[in-house]
Amino acid sequence: MSATANTIPAYLPLRNDLIGEEPYGAPQLDVPVCLNVNENPYAPDPAVCEAIARRVLEIAPTLNRYPDREHIALRRAFSDYIARESGVRLDVDQLWGANGSNEIMLQLFQAFGGPGRTALGADPTYSMYPEYARDTFTGWRLAHRNPDFTLDLDALVAAIGDIRPSMVLITSPNNPTGTPLPLEDVERVLDACRDIQVAGAADGVRPIVVIDEAYVEFRTPGTPSAVELIERHPNLAVSRTMSKAFAFAGARVGYLAASKGIIDCMRIVRMPYHLSAVTQAAALAAFEHTDEQLARVDHLRQVREDTAAWLKTQTYQGEPLQVAESGSNFLLFGGRFDDRDAIFDGLLARGVLIRTVGPAGWMRVCMGTDEEMAHFRDALVETLRDVEAR
Ligand SMILES: Cc1ncc(COP(=O)(O)O)c(C=O)c1O
Repeated sequence: MSATANTIPAYLPLRNDLIGEEPYGAPQLDVPVCLNVNENPYAPDPAVCEAIARRVLEIAPTLNRYPDREHIALRRAFSDYIARESGVRLDVDQLWGANGSNEIMLQLFQAFGGPGRTALGADPTYSMYPEYARDTFTGWRLAHRNPDFTLDLDALVAAIGDIRPSMVLITSPNNPTGTPLPLEDVERVLDACRDIQVAGAADGVRPIVVIDEAYVEFRTPGTPSAVELIERHPNLAVSRTMSKAFAFAGARVGYLAASKGIIDCMRIVRMPYHLSAVTQAAALAAFEHTDEQLARVDHLRQVREDTAAWLKTQTYQGEPLQVAESGSNFLLFGGRFDDRDAIFDGLLARGVLIRTVGPAGWMRVCMGTDEEMAHFRDALVETLRDVEAR
């Protein structure tokens, strides 16, 4: 059920700028094959479920007390995980957790955005960013990507100079396109911000660069993460999440790796006790079983490659489907769909939910289990045939 602008009584003093707005979110429909929100399709291993139950049982008798506001044990676990995953050891005070990277992002906007400040992104990009900006009264501007969805660095650097944003926000790999972001590009953006004076801020205030690495574990093995640059760049923040590769979307745990200075800014805007004791216990239990949680990542990467190759063999109106290069667990495909809604509806009628998102003509599908992907392929072949025949 969704509250829409039409269901909100006119006598309620909703903020003027929110009147007519709709709640954000992909449809949550009860269909056999859900490939629309970039989750890991594999359920946690029974050993992980038991560890979660055990940890939650342990802290249950303390639930009359507030949780550890600083979530120190969990920040240690983030540190261990990043050391293992990216080969970079960060201190506890360079790490910060929240309820999903959605909350991490909101806290970044609360701390570094606000009236008179502007955040700059590179579109097409994650559709929640403008909402964080709206909710924090931050300006939101975009520098467009190249036609192949790589960053147009010249355009971005020029926009940084013109706009003098307080935040530059880049997704790596990008959503909804999946486009990988080379570390050299991140360094160029950091360099471009070095001598920029943030508009409306005191002398010497420079932009922060936020790299949203929600899907980073799906990158080509051996590719460096932006966390490698944190030690040298105090204005860099790297956001991550347990929702995607780590198969923990339901627990709502995201985290930020950055300089201690940036983390201290996050601590100013967070709600007291924002991470519940239950969330902290569940996340610690999941980190005890990192191997099991990540067990399917290599396979999903392979499914992505196989699906991309297969999609390129399919045609629509006599032309092969286009597929954007992806370092993520989803693919943006199509490129020339003149009626995306018809494709979406055709797939849905066959029990497959994907996402109509991104530039006109494209659609996004997330990698599912082998059975789900087989179902998707059959449904897409039939749907394309039906839509073409109309
Ligand atoms: C690029 C990107 N960042 C952040 C998020 C938020 O993820 P979560 O709040 O589950 O950590 C998503 C979710 O789809 C995403 O695609």
